[in-house]
Amino acid sequence: MNVYDSQRIADILENMGYKPATQIKNADIILFNTCHIREKAAEKLFSDLGRVEIVKNERSLDGKETIIGVVGCVVQAENEQIAKRAPFVNFATGPLTYHRIPEILARIARDKKICIIDTDFPAESKFDFLPENHAHGGCAYLAVQEGCNNFCTYCIVPYTRGVETSRPLEDVIKEAKELVNSGVLEINLLGQNVNCYHGEDASGKERSLAYLLNCLSEIDGLKRLRYTTSYPADMTDELILCHKNLKKLMPYLHLPLQSGSDKILKAMNRRHDSKQYLQIIEKLQNANPDLRFSSDFIVGFPGETDKDFEATLNLAKQINYIQSFSFKYSRRAGTPAAVYPNQVEEKVKQQRLQILQQELFAMQLDFNQKCVGKTMPVLFESSARNKGEIFGRTPYMQTIVVKGGKENLNLIKNVTVTCGGTNSLTGTLE
Ligand code: 5AD
Ligand code: SF4
Repeated sequence: MNVYDSQRIADILENMGYKPATQIKNADIILFNTCHIREKAAEKLFSDLGRVEIVKNERSLDGKETIIGVVGCVVQAENEQIAKRAPFVNFATGPLTYHRIPEILARIARDKKICIIDTDFPAESKFDFLPENHAHGGCAYLAVQEGCNNFCTYCIVPYTRGVETSRPLEDVIKEAKELVNSGVLEINLLGQNVNCYHGEDASGKERSLAYLLNCLSEIDGLKRLRYTTSYPADMTDELILCHKNLKKLMPYLHLPLQSGSDKILKAMNRRHDSKQYLQIIEKLQNANPDLRFSSDFIVGFPGETDKDFEATLNLAKQINYIQSFSFKYSRRAGTPAAVYPNQVEEKVKQQRLQILQQELFAMQLDFNQKCVGKTMPVLFESSARNKGEIFGRTPYMQTIVVKGGKENLNLIKNVTVTCGGTNSLTGTLE
């Protein structure tokens, strides 16, 4: 979602006549889009701000002004900290108000000294004010839903991104068609809880994500559809059926499990236990036997014992994820779990993370190696690090590098996989 937001902010600025700077010292405006999901992500902002303060001071010696702005969830949660620790910041806006950047910049131009902080949960939808979603290549993100009402006890998102809202169906379809008209072949529908999408159609009737996917799959020229991130308990039968019926829907689904222990899932306030999660996986697998899964995991949630952790390891192995993101539990001020008494020691969290990641990487490597010899359609995205090589993505989101020229970029071509590593594949263009 942050990548999407950053692209949309770039669209706003380009609309105002700004162009991307090739070097930071040439930038008239420097913006940070921030994440507050874990402590490490938030702390990074303050070290980066220290770096750009030096740039701002150096430019000021040359008589050049530099506007420094911070956007995103850290602003929503820590605006006072930003003003205190980085008083040279000109403005800060939360993730729901970045459509106001033109207005903010105009105010800064008028009154040079002010620092504007906007952490509203606005009544208006920012999507009604954003410029057209420009295609940045063959794949595009399209936000359809924002915010979350699930209130998992570890998670800051409901407090920073606000309550759940869905964009109207027609707006999403219009944006998708515009993207396809400008060369997009793959659309990834985004939302913190994307599968609870319930946007209104023109008659005011609420429509599901399954309905939206059916509409989008009829767009000529659109080749691939994905959606992320899904909440397991919201995987309806109607949505599961899409994985059987819609050929454009890619056979890869991100379905965060978080923990394999029912006790921990309950303490996390997840609306599923391990058995229900497995049933959903089974239904999806029956709908499309080629479907494979990825997950998020948290280790060291308060009260997690060795036995709970073992349950996570076992369930992960049983489901055989092909990609995963795993994190040590991070206390987020204001969330219920931050004040749970039975916090897990840092050393234990670290050990568990290492053990889990070892298993997850082994599964990922195994899947990638099993792809060797197979031919897959790959959507090429950009040049690779080595000259004469390009990289793209398989239907399973694996990165794959092949020898080939730029004429293949933003196109889907068949590739035979020749080698499978943990993080990427190599192959030859057919
Ligand atoms: N600590 C660690 N990981 C977290 N996540 C969300 N909140 C926390 C937290 N407090 C993880 C979850 C979520 C992913 C986006 O980030 O696994 O699915
Ligand atoms: Fe956070 Fe996801 Fe839970 Fe919502 S469903 S509270 S975004 S972890």
